[in-house]
Amino acid sequence: MRVIGIETSCDETGIAVYDDEKGLLSHALYSQVKLHADYGGVVPELASRDHVRKIIPLIKQALSDANCTQDDIDGIAYTKGPGLVGALLVGACVGRALAFAWGKPAVGVHHMEGHLLAPMLEEDVPEFPFLALLVSGGHSMMVAVEGIGRYEVLGESVDDAAGEAFDKTAKLMGLDYPGGPRLAKLAAKGEPSHYRFPRPMTDRPGLDFSFSGLKTFAANTIAAEPDDEQTRANIARAFEEAVVDTLAIKCKRALKQTGYNRLVIAGGVSANSRLRESLAEMMQSLGGKVYYPRGEFCTDNGAMIAYAGLQRLKAGQIEDLAVKGMPRWPLDSLPPV
Ligand code: KG4
Ligand code: ZN
Repeated sequence: MRVIGIETSCDETGIAVYDDEKGLLSHALYSQVKLHADYGGVVPELASRDHVRKIIPLIKQALSDANCTQDDIDGIAYTKGPGLVGALLVGACVGRALAFAWGKPAVGVHHMEGHLLAPMLEEDVPEFPFLALLVSGGHSMMVAVEGIGRYEVLGESVDDAAGEAFDKTAKLMGLDYPGGPRLAKLAAKGEPSHYRFPRPMTDRPGLDFSFSGLKTFAANTIAAEPDDEQTRANIARAFEEAVVDTLAIKCKRALKQTGYNRLVIAGGVSANSRLRESLAEMMQSLGGKVYYPRGEFCTDNGAMIAYAGLQRLKAGQIEDLAVKGMPRWPLDSLPPV
């Protein structure tokens, strides 16, 4: 079976062709980063309009890179939610229209399920069950995964998502949007443990996260300390250490609670090298293993949507002609495959 995946939930237009025997045949991505940079964040209406401009050329490119035509495609998968409703509707309209015109089945995919399954695009795939730490710009979640669509959300962020905290703190430090990767780069020049930021909600039981206090702590530290490059790097380092440590503490707790020894990390923040190193070390010391997608599939992309959609289409989960975008959509409400 061969599926074309369409991702338009936020500020990246991602299209990919995935074949269940041959693997990933092509993937094309257009990032709107430059468009939104002047505004310091994603402007939803501009995002929708830019998806409209880019989606068809990217679909053509992905098909041609995969050396196939519409006749070789067996199904269409598009991101149905969660995300920006206008942006989602662009992908959903195009996905549904192609399905109708080409006479192929289509399915709407949950964006976070896409992230969660992204490590399946790599050589070394995790077996079920596993624990998944999903850390993106919009969501932070700890999920017990027994199979595709068999998800139990064990914990979530009660305020900012991990990526959002990175972006907001980066903005406070005068770094351009999207700040997460820029803050990580600055942190690499910082002295380890020069400042100590709190590890929110680790002093009480439970698997929920809270990151908005860290941003305030960073703001207060910035105001109290001198404004030079090394100090800024030290603050970035302390912030990153606090986020990574907090996530590691929660993962350890969740592994103990579930008894699992495989950990998947996915979503934009899983591209963070300190987080990857720290969790890899922790899993090694626990006798387990960590899995994550290659860097370009940590952030939004069409490949993860094609993969997730293929699993659902193969299981006969085909949707009707209605065009739906779901800005909010609980992950644990998905049907099992
Ligand atoms: O998954 P994603 O591409 O989009 C959403 O679904 O939200 O995640 C984007 C988020 C942004 O907040 C971005 O700053 C963050 O991931 N991010 C990083 C890094 N790369 C991306 N955060 C920390 N370190 C990184 N290297
Ligand atoms: Zn995402």
